Amino acid sequence: MSVLQFVDVRKQYPSDSVAVRAVDGVSLKVEVGELIALVGRSGCGKSTLLNLAGAMDFPTSGTVLIDGQSTTGLDDTMLTRLRREKVGFIFQSFQLLPNLTAAENVELPLLLSGGQKARENALDRLARVELDGLGHRYPHQLSGGQMQRVAIARALVHRPKLLLADEPIGNLDSATGSTILELLRRITTEEGATIVMATHSAESTAIADRVVEMRDGRIISPQ
Ligand SMILES: Nc1ncnc2c1ncn2[C@@H]1O[C@H](COP(=O)(O)OP(=O)(O)OP(=O)(O)O)[C@@H](O)[C@H]1O
Ligand SMILES: [Mg+2]
Repeated sequence: MSVLQFVDVRKQYPSDSVAVRAVDGVSLKVEVGELIALVGRSGCGKSTLLNLAGAMDFPTSGTVLIDGQSTTGLDDTMLTRLRREKVGFIFQSFQLLPNLTAAENVELPLLLSGGQKARENALDRLARVELDGLGHRYPHQLSGGQMQRVAIARALVHRPKLLLADEPIGNLDSATGSTILELLRRITTEEGATIVMATHSAESTAIADRVVEMRDGRIISPQ
C-alpha cells in the first residue's frame, strides 16, 4: 500500500472573479521509503499539495489517502489522530514554540497523545539529530540549523509514516542547508521514513529518489 496517494485531486480557492485552481487534477502515489522533491515555480501549488497530503486542508474533489485512509469524511477526533499518528510536518520557518525548550518542543507531540517516556524519547530524538546536550536551550538560543534539527526531531518523535517538508532549507545558508538535507536523506534510508519535500534548491533534487514537477496546479513531470 502507498503511504500517500492522490486520486484526481483538485483544490480550488474562491476568489473575487474566477476560482484559483491551486491543485488541478493531481494523481500521485508515494511508496514507503521514498524521498520526493516537489518542485515548480512560486504559486504552482506545492504548499497546497503538502497541506492536502497532511490533512491540514481538504480537496474540493478527488481523494487523498494517507496510509490507505481517506482524509475526507473524518470527524475531528479521527482527523486529529490521523495527523498525530501518521504525519510529521517541517516548515521553512521552523515553527518551534518560543517559550518551550528544545526538549519540551520535541516531547510535546508525545505528551499530547499520552505517550510514555516522553522526555526520554525526546532526548533520544535530539541525539539522533546531533543535538545532544542542547535540550535545555530555548529556540532563541539556537542557530537556524539547530532550530530546524529540533523541528525535525519533533516531526519524527512519534515515528510518523509520512514526513512533509515545506522548503525546509529555505531559510538556511547553503552549508547548513546541506547538513539538513544529509540528515533528511539519512533518516529516509535508516528509518524507512517517507518524505515529500517542496523545494527550490537544486541540491534537494539531487538527493531525491524522485523529482515531481508542478505547473499551474498540475504535475507535469514525470508524466
Ligand atoms: N488560502 C488561499 N486562498 C486563496 N488562494 C490561495 C490560498 N492559498 C494559496 N492560494 C493560491 O493557490 C496557488 C498555489 O499556492 P501555493 O502556496 O500552493 O504555491 P507554492 O507552489 O507553494 O508557492 P511558493 O513556492 O511561493 O511557496 C497560488 O496561486 C496561491 O495564490
Ligand atoms: Mg509554498
